[in-house]
Amino acid sequence: MKLRYLGHSGFQLQDGGHEIAIDPFLAQNPSTPVDVSEVAPSHIVLSHAHFDHYADTPAIAERTGATVVAAVEIASYVSQRGMTGHGMNIGGGFAFPFGRLRFTPAWHSSSFPDGTYGGMPTGIVLEMGGKRIYHAGDTALFSDMSLIGRKPLDLVMLPIGDFYTMGPDDALEAVKLLEPKAVIPIHYNTFDAIRQDGRAFKERVEGETGARCLVLEPGDSLDV
Ligand code: NI
Ligand code: MN
Repeated sequence: MKLRYLGHSGFQLQDGGHEIAIDPFLAQNPSTPVDVSEVAPSHIVLSHAHFDHYADTPAIAERTGATVVAAVEIASYVSQRGMTGHGMNIGGGFAFPFGRLRFTPAWHSSSFPDGTYGGMPTGIVLEMGGKRIYHAGDTALFSDMSLIGRKPLDLVMLPIGDFYTMGPDDALEAVKLLEPKAVIPIHYNTFDAIRQDGRAFKERVEGETGARCLVLEPGDSLDV
């Protein structure tokens, strides 16, 4: 499976003939070189409705016809705007053509830029290309992450930006609860409020846990 970091919390995942995007925030992201036209998913998966996650969803969905997979309130919102929504809720999973996806809790909030309630924010557990991946979305640290980690995780994406989400100290605790093979730090250095040192986080993760830490620049790709 090929993974591309779109910057902030965004990813493009490609496996076989399938392509999905998670939390695409490109056109108005000051810190990514990736253009919206480089993303052509069949499904856009959203962790919550905040603009730095939802941003390019309408542009991509209108161009590619992608289905928006998210909390029912988000799916309803996009359906009312001419997009195709696939609404789910926390704890529920579904076998999509690209793989099985389940939404988990996240401690955060969720509203659209116009103030519409976006339902509960979520994390995403994805089984794709023979790998199990957990994208935490925007969240605080919570001890039930240890439940998410009971089935082995190949890769987790955790926010480290602080201010709106976990910072590096709590993200390190999350790695200890999740016990993944690898972690990618996300949701930092996009704006001044969330400046963090990814290399320092990597040193702590690899010094204190058994996980590898992959510090990616926006636009970087890797094989999972
Ligand atoms: Ni948010
Ligand atoms: Mn955010």
